[in-house]
Amino acid sequence: MLFRRSGKHVLVSGEHSPGSEKLRPKRGKLSPKPGGLCRNPGKLRPKRGSRSPGSGNLRRKPGSLCPRRGKHRPKSGNLSLSSGEVSLSSGNVPPAKGKVFELAENNSMTMIKKYLLVTIGFYCTCFFLHAQADDTKRNGGYVWPADTLVKNKLEHWEDQKFGMIIHWGLYSVPGIIESWELCSEPWIERDSSVSYCDFKRWYWGLKKDFNPVKFNPEQWAQAAKDAGMRYLVFTTKHHDGFCMFDTKQTDFKISNGPFASNPKADVAKYVFDAFRQKGFMIGAYFSKPDWHSQDFWWSKYATPDRNVNYDIRKYPWKWNRFKQFTYNQISELMHNYGSIDILWLDGGWVRPLETVNEEVRSWGAAIPPWSQDIDMPHIASMARQAQPGILIVDRTVHGPYENYQTPEQRIPETKLDFPWESCMTLGNNWGYVPGDPLKSSAKIIHALIEVVAKGGSLLLGVGPRPDGTLDSLQVQRLKEIGVWLRTNGQAIYNTRTTEIFQDGETFFTQSKDGKTCYAIVRIPENSKLPSSLTWRGNLPEKGTKIKLINSNISVKWGRYNDKITVYLPVSVTKSKKDYPALTFSLVPERGTGMNVSDNKSACIAVNCKEEQ
Ligand code: GLC
Repeated sequence: MLFRRSGKHVLVSGEHSPGSEKLRPKRGKLSPKPGGLCRNPGKLRPKRGSRSPGSGNLRRKPGSLCPRRGKHRPKSGNLSLSSGEVSLSSGNVPPAKGKVFELAENNSMTMIKKYLLVTIGFYCTCFFLHAQADDTKRNGGYVWPADTLVKNKLEHWEDQKFGMIIHWGLYSVPGIIESWELCSEPWIERDSSVSYCDFKRWYWGLKKDFNPVKFNPEQWAQAAKDAGMRYLVFTTKHHDGFCMFDTKQTDFKISNGPFASNPKADVAKYVFDAFRQKGFMIGAYFSKPDWHSQDFWWSKYATPDRNVNYDIRKYPWKWNRFKQFTYNQISELMHNYGSIDILWLDGGWVRPLETVNEEVRSWGAAIPPWSQDIDMPHIASMARQAQPGILIVDRTVHGPYENYQTPEQRIPETKLDFPWESCMTLGNNWGYVPGDPLKSSAKIIHALIEVVAKGGSLLLGVGPRPDGTLDSLQVQRLKEIGVWLRTNGQAIYNTRTTEIFQDGETFFTQSKDGKTCYAIVRIPENSKLPSSLTWRGNLPEKGTKIKLINSNISVKWGRYNDKITVYLPVSVTKSKKDYPALTFSLVPERGTGMNVSDNKSACIAVNCKEEQ
């Protein structure tokens, strides 16, 4: 078959997969062919801006939402214009004059006052907006939810730390990048001997071949559990529009092809059930863009990029139909699939035009002049009515419908003080691509440690095979991760950050009650354990018990000025080969610690210079 994977003809998503955040396909593999569809052969990496969600210094300062306002706001009754000619201070009474003169003066005073009031109003508004914009920059545009049920769920979600995102859809059949080959943007590679139209025809036709007779969601859930994962996000519909749930809005769905007569044809239901049974929080991935829908990509026009391909201003009725379709599909998910904790909405370019900012522009994708406003308030209110407290993650559209932020394939440089999650692939791809090299378990464990110390959660991506099973290599890798988490998990799950969250390869977390501080030291892959480890920051008080938690033994330690050194017993250094990270719990003698709400470490130093 023409498009069957042949390694060099298919596009695989790389370390920076395309989409909401970045536009880069996999490095190296994409050598374009002359005459191919890629209009920009030498330039497969569209420019990325430096500002992407959750990155850098987007920290919220607790309790200081509008810090600059007070500084700039003029005090009433005490405002002098720059020249000092006109001043409006409380004691500034005009001198008595003749009547006419008085009237004229009154009039001109009134005008001056009016002028001043308007000017003051104008400047106040500017200062206010400026302060607001500043705050938005500082907190990454994050808006804290007001609904108590949402707050509680968010807190509960923040305890889980490690989740699985499953990409499974039509693209799994040939084993190519998820949906993106359908899109005609210049960075996308395809077999150049086939026309775009033929390609699309072939892709839509894959529905005839998708018959996952070995569909085994219990195996997926078990693998996730074994990995130590605690929440799930499953692709109910990706950008290609193929539904992995039994929607009534379209026939383009798994429950309509060769799999229709299978008792588990309503795939999403069985995936959710299997994970729910193992105590996972349940998330539904749903793509706002739908490239199969005639109300999104209208075949009357070409489809040059990811956006709606007709002018919504000219055809509002068509866009309204798409909005209704989207609303109905999400409503089905919210009403017919049991309890759902997270509605994870992908395709951040489908958003109101006024929310398009530098961050969105930095993705390098085309931005049409019309608004692709899907009406989130309407969707969210329906979702919350059906699923009280559900977390809504309208990715990259920072604001009230993004209960946590989702940096993709990367970890923010610093700790962020609002809820966030890094989504990352176990291989190079979100979906199943045969032969896709997997990251080592140490690499994933190292990422998890860093993410958690910086206040986030890790959502790890796997892609089941077209027959419905998870590849044994993926299962194996997940097991290895779980082995580490089973003994070290107390420093990960249910923890909160400490003010000092990292020193080199040492990362810190603390228990929610602030009584125990954890130092997790990442050990480089393929290296032996050293006989001692040293770090700066979060130095323990005298009398603190430091335990190596994988062996449950107290270790000797000494404090030298601003550093601490812990000594590993020979029994440990000898027995632990290729150990990804050592975790120490630090419990102060008096066991008091600090309250987490102080957002400081439980083991901030007091003057203790002695060695133990
Ligand atoms: C990006 C990709 C999309 C993928 C998602 C997963 O948005 O474009 O294909 O599903 O990342 O996080």
